[in-house]
Amino acid sequence: MFDLKQFIENCKGKPASAVKDLIQGALRDPAAVSAAIDAEFAGRDLSKAGIADLIFFRSPTLTVLKAATPPKFKTPPHNHNMWAVIGTYDGQEDNTFYRRGERGLEKAGGKDLKTGDVVVLGEDAIHAIANPLDRPSCAIHIYGGDLLNFSNRSVWNPFTFEEHPYDIKLITNYARELMAGAQS
Ligand SMILES: [Fe+2]
Repeated sequence: MFDLKQFIENCKGKPASAVKDLIQGALRDPAAVSAAIDAEFAGRDLSKAGIADLIFFRSPTLTVLKAATPPKFKTPPHNHNMWAVIGTYDGQEDNTFYRRGERGLEKAGGKDLKTGDVVVLGEDAIHAIANPLDRPSCAIHIYGGDLLNFSNRSVWNPFTFEEHPYDIKLITNYARELMAGAQS
C-alpha cells in the first residue's frame, strides 16, 4: 500500500537522488500509487482542474503534485529552475530535453516514461512533455522548490524557440497550437 502523506514526509529535506529512490520504490507497485492518489481526489470533479488543484504539498523547498496529461497533450519547452523527479504511474509521459545553444534552444535527447519509469531533471533542465496515448496519463511530480513561484522561469515558443517569461496562459495557448498541429 502506498501512503501519500508518509511519502511526502519522507521527501522533505531530501535531495533529488533520495527522492528518486523513494518514488522508484513506490512505483514497484504503480497500481497502489494510483489507488492512493485516486482516493485523495475521491468525490472531486477534476475535469476542469488546473495545476494548483492537483498539488498535494507545497512549500518554498518542496512541491508534490499529480500531473494528469490529457490524451495527445503536448507542452511547449519550459524550465523549472529547481530539480524535479517525475514518476509515471499510469500511462506514458514522453520527455524531450533541450539546452541553450549558440543559436537558441537545441534539442538534447529525450526519455519516454512508461508506467513505473522515473526521471530526474537537474535545476537547469529545459523540457517539454507529451502524452502519446489516446487516454490520460498520470504521473507524480516532485520539485525541489515552490513550483508556483514563476519568477525567473521561461517558456519557449515551440515553433520558433523564442524565449518568454513563464506564463500559464502562454503555455496553454502553445499547448493548444501544438495539439491542433498534431491533428491536422
Ligand atoms: Fe515541466
